[in-house]
Amino acid sequence: MKSGSRGRERRNPLNQMSSTQNNPERFLPAMSAIAREAGALLMEFFHQGLKIEYKGDADLVTAADRASETLIRERISKQFPSHDVLGEEQGLNDKGGDYRWYVDPLDGTTNFAHGYPVFCVSMALEHRALEHRALEHRSDAGARRVAGVVYDPTRDELFTAEQGRGAHLNGKPIRVSKASQLKECLLATGFPSQKRHKNPNIHFYHQITLRSHGVRRAGSAALDLCNVASGRFDGFWEFNLNPWDTAAGVLIVEEAGGRVSRFDGSPFEIDSRETLASNGLVHDALVREFQEIFAGRGLDPLADAREYKR
Ligand code: IPD
Ligand code: CA
Ligand code: CA
Repeated sequence: MKSGSRGRERRNPLNQMSSTQNNPERFLPAMSAIAREAGALLMEFFHQGLKIEYKGDADLVTAADRASETLIRERISKQFPSHDVLGEEQGLNDKGGDYRWYVDPLDGTTNFAHGYPVFCVSMALEHRALEHRALEHRSDAGARRVAGVVYDPTRDELFTAEQGRGAHLNGKPIRVSKASQLKECLLATGFPSQKRHKNPNIHFYHQITLRSHGVRRAGSAALDLCNVASGRFDGFWEFNLNPWDTAAGVLIVEEAGGRVSRFDGSPFEIDSRETLASNGLVHDALVREFQEIFAGRGLDPLADAREYKR
């Protein structure tokens, strides 16, 4: 730990580690208020219509992404001055603190930029244990996400979770679904906006579609995870997500009774870049399907478009 960070934590009672251990709810009201405020800002931009800028060929960013992250960072630095923040648009502000926020100021930018109302604000708070910050190269080692919020301003839905205290939607407890067979599941996935030609997910999309009730691709990974947590989806997977996409949603799924892992079933870590979430009951079946698809075994061929025309 960097010298002085403990001192700062002691001076500010809101930031005391012990206060979180004794009363983890202390962070959630502040996180929820910030997420709601950022969501309201996004809605203002959404109704105005926006100029799109490009970070890559199909990787969009808007003034709303930037304004939302600026607002969130201002609120965090005022209320929790010793906390570190990793945000999608401005990167890592590392003060060597005990706490780190993962911020996606607008998850679903492509939807947002096209006027399709499926997007949200996603924020998680992680407690970084002293002994594990010494092992900085193992970025997830020993770090615990203690709270997460995902706010969908288009539906006024606030998903929240605290470690060990369950998950909630607008204050009411939520649970994952009870579907126990893949063939009766509705699932979700996503595709990246960078290096799209290197992403093999279309094969997984195809195979899992044929083995389930269907696979949705709504365009917001954080909301996809929350929809698993609330039982609307039975599972979700995506390749190459970033920590700000998953940090809150993964905690919300786990606190709602679900399971999150890498594609081979091994434990999910914040920098895993493989996210497989489910209600738990169909998790092993999904892992088996993934093994088969990776190995190229038992695949249903894609229909030939030229055959269709004949
Ligand atoms: C994207 C969304 C999308 C997922 C992409 C993400 P962004 O985040 O979560 O659903 O498929 O991989 O990059 O860019 O809108 O914050
Ligand atoms: Ca995102
Ligand atoms: Ca984003």
